[in-house]
Amino acid sequence: MSADTQKRLAGEAAALRVEAGMTVGLGTGSTAAWFVRALAARNLTGLRCVPTSEATAELARELGLPLSTLEDSPRIDLTVDGADEVGPGLALIKGGGAALLREKLVWEASARCLVIADAAKVVQTLGAFALPIEVVAFGHKTTANRIADVLIDHEIAMPARVRTADRGLVRTDGGNLIYDAKCGAVHDPARLADDLKLITGVVEHGLFLDLADEAIIGTDGGVELLT
Ligand code: 5RP
Repeated sequence: MSADTQKRLAGEAAALRVEAGMTVGLGTGSTAAWFVRALAARNLTGLRCVPTSEATAELARELGLPLSTLEDSPRIDLTVDGADEVGPGLALIKGGGAALLREKLVWEASARCLVIADAAKVVQTLGAFALPIEVVAFGHKTTANRIADVLIDHEIAMPARVRTADRGLVRTDGGNLIYDAKCGAVHDPARLADDLKLITGVVEHGLFLDLADEAIIGTDGGVELLT
């Protein structure tokens, strides 16, 4: 079974968790897109959907889902979102799609957060996937030097690299830059999260700790629930 089929299974299972009248946070990425499509297909009444990116907003709009904003709907019942890595205790790396700041804002406003992923995303130690760090563009090379110092303190020798695409530096929906830190292994995610947050110029990082309530993992044999 392909990873995309596993993502679809997880997204469809998550859509069954949504009830009419709920305010729902819509994640970003290919797995979250399967959830958004499955949710729209259910035609539930009274939904309010808060998207975590412009890309997800566009998809939800095309599918006719009723959109809201975090300003208008500050209390979200359930957020469903993908992840780049799902580690022990449902510690996550997110931000592969550069939406980590809006995602974390929506997750933190949610009564429950459900992560959906294909089986390859489940890991014993976080860090094989490069950790995304959102950085203000002003003075970003200086900020990158300070990130490098923190990484060295965490025994991560490789400096984070600014994310680029065909048209130059990748910009987030908020106009910031993304640095990706190839950690290899993050031995103390909570301390790394704290240390990164203390750097002026770092807006947010992709470590999502103590935020996910459950995970639905798509596997070749169906879906598995992690709590
Ligand atoms: C976007 C994210 C995504 O949820 C994460 O990158 C997983 O993406 P995909 O479902 O396409 O594998 O954090 O910022």
